[in-house]
Amino acid sequence: MKTDVSKIETNKRLGIGLLGYGTVGKGLETLLEATASDAFFIAKILRRATKANRHDMVEDIESLLQDPNVDIVVEVLGGIEPARTYILAALNAKKAVVTANKALINRHGDELDACAKANGVALRFSAAVGGGIPYLATLLEVKRHTQIQAIGGILNGTSNFMLDKMEREQCAFEEALRAAQQLGYAEADPSADILGTDSLNKIRLSGVVAFDRWIEFESIPCEGIAYLQAEDIQFIQNLGYHIRLFATMCRSEDGIQAYVEPQLFNVEDAEASILANHNIAWFVDSMNERQALIGQGAGGLPTAGNILRDLMQIKEKTGGMLPEGHTKLVANNTKAIHPYLIRSSKTLKSGYLEALSEVKWIQGNRIYRITKAMDVSRIHALVQTLRATEPIFFAGIQTKETL
Ligand code: HSE
Repeated sequence: MKTDVSKIETNKRLGIGLLGYGTVGKGLETLLEATASDAFFIAKILRRATKANRHDMVEDIESLLQDPNVDIVVEVLGGIEPARTYILAALNAKKAVVTANKALINRHGDELDACAKANGVALRFSAAVGGGIPYLATLLEVKRHTQIQAIGGILNGTSNFMLDKMEREQCAFEEALRAAQQLGYAEADPSADILGTDSLNKIRLSGVVAFDRWIEFESIPCEGIAYLQAEDIQFIQNLGYHIRLFATMCRSEDGIQAYVEPQLFNVEDAEASILANHNIAWFVDSMNERQALIGQGAGGLPTAGNILRDLMQIKEKTGGMLPEGHTKLVANNTKAIHPYLIRSSKTLKSGYLEALSEVKWIQGNRIYRITKAMDVSRIHALVQTLRATEPIFFAGIQTKETL
């Protein structure tokens, strides 16, 4: 059934039922007061019982949904439950829903979208990717007139902030993570940021928007920055590279390639100049032109900007964001090939690793190797095996051909 958002009255000030009042919820409140108070107001906020301490705050979803002033529900709780149950309740109560919850849309997007369509209301999630960057909105718009060939970039603000801080201040990994948490960039559980799963959720979600296909989670190799140490950053800088957490998905003759991994970029590459909590999110069009969007990829106000974008779309009666009739595919990375930097200790004996090496440096107990060009899935699997012995660090080396 087509989304019918006719129940939204476009010329009245619309009331928002806000689920969650953390960094992004507060950011939305500030943004609405500053820029859009004639279009939207926060009618009710759902908070945990111990924190519902204002007259406009409630502890249960029913009280929020029964408020006649609530026209649209905005979910910024994060996590799978109770967010999923609350969103289903809101959609069944015929409220349009805006969410920033990339993990939830990745796992239950089809169920939620079907529920939205059955109830004739919109479900939108622009803020799930790129913080304040209008990336998903752009992909939706450009795919109407071009076949998108590839998407990707730096999609996690926390890890970018950490890598940039470690590069510029030579600080330790833990200090950089603490600073990212204090600034409200990291997830409540930052393991998603540093293990790469936040980037994985974002590239997968961008993929279903760009290519009309969900790629199976397990088939996407995913490596974060958790194994990186301050000494590795110094070594990488001495080689003349910048390290960034990179995610990509692209069409190939064998299907769709997809992976997430740290990569080393030359100074002239756009990714190398992405600093602080910024993201770069690009797409390649049918003429093989790459267009990039750059901006703050995490934080309360930037993310609230994308939520406001969705609120305006709902007011203007645009529909949902998931494509109709999409299929599921397994990623095929056999043509995704590039060299890797691998750091191990002198004590690790691996004839296989040795055979792959083109160049080798010994620094105290550390050995750094640059490998021959390798298939992404193969090297990710090899490192997982070697990690049974020790916490190896590895990063892809970006070459123009890999874009
Ligand atoms: N933790 C996320 C990030 C927040 O750092 O990118 C924005 O999705």
